[in-house]
Amino acid sequence: MAVTALSGKVFLLITGASRGIGRQIAISFGSVLEKGSHALLLATNLNALEETAKNISSNVTVDTVSVDLSKATKDELHDIIMQSLSKKDKLPIDFDRMVVVHNVGTMGDLSQLTTDMTNINTWRNYYDLNVFIPAILNGVVMKLFTELANASKTVINITSLLGIQPLKSTAYYCTGKAAREMFFKVFALEYPEVNVLNYSPGPVETDMLLEVCNDHGDQETKASFNDMLKKKTVLTCEQTVNRLLNVLKDHKYTSGDHVDYYDEL
Ligand SMILES: NC(=O)c1ccc[n+]([C@@H]2O[C@H](COP(=O)([O-])OP(=O)(O)OC[C@H]3O[C@@H](n4cnc5c(N)ncnc54)[C@H](OP(=O)(O)O)[C@@H]3O)[C@@H](O)[C@H]2O)c1
Repeated sequence: MAVTALSGKVFLLITGASRGIGRQIAISFGSVLEKGSHALLLATNLNALEETAKNISSNVTVDTVSVDLSKATKDELHDIIMQSLSKKDKLPIDFDRMVVVHNVGTMGDLSQLTTDMTNINTWRNYYDLNVFIPAILNGVVMKLFTELANASKTVINITSLLGIQPLKSTAYYCTGKAAREMFFKVFALEYPEVNVLNYSPGPVETDMLLEVCNDHGDQETKASFNDMLKKKTVLTCEQTVNRLLNVLKDHKYTSGDHVDYYDEL
């Protein structure tokens, strides 16, 4: 599949690439990348990242780095990117395009109602991983590829229907997704030359969805997710990532838009 956003020599950075949707993005995007491209995959589980890497086309150089993205600093993120390139004797200037996929995400405690959410450290930890560090990583990678290279830029934020639709007992996740999506909408306005997509993948069978099925505090929500799983109306990672590739290929959205798997575009 020819996808302009993934053509030429691409520097591809994916967070949360060890399993689930991020793993599939690495494999499917990797399969369309051209020779000379480089993929940097981040998550905590290094073995699982290496398994992902084994499934990526040999056209592409792949680097896997274990990092806790709830704790990483601006300087660490900068060094991870630069060291990843230098290990392969590359510099930002060697690439025609930069593609970043902010995929990492967690549900947060699904047992708490909004009035139970009174611990500031729980809020801070959740927002560090899901909102603040994606914003910092985005600033770091944008600066590197603007100051040291003239690459075209595509930034994909993996968002959720729950960033625009409330659900009981899910306020960490709903508010985090809403904040992160709005951050990338502001970013899209400020940088009209960057192709920014907020992609909402639909309900996908991953560990995250199983967590909702097992741990959700609202019994009605728990039952409805279990019902989707039983009736197999949830999507596979492959289905949603193929749809993402088609959304990118057709490019009918305006930069910063929220595009859902089920939207007719
Ligand atoms: N599944 C769905 O139905 C669904 C629906 C809408 C939106 N989404 C969104 O899609 C994205 C991916 O979800 P998923 O379902 O694929 O989730 P998942 O299977 O739970 O995978 C989450 C990924 O994030 C990584 N991660 C978690 N904590 C981390 C940390 N502290 N530091 C670094 N990496 C960390 C995990 O790797 P390690 O464990 O190796 O760290 C893993 O690779 C999320 O943004 C999610 O909100 C999912």
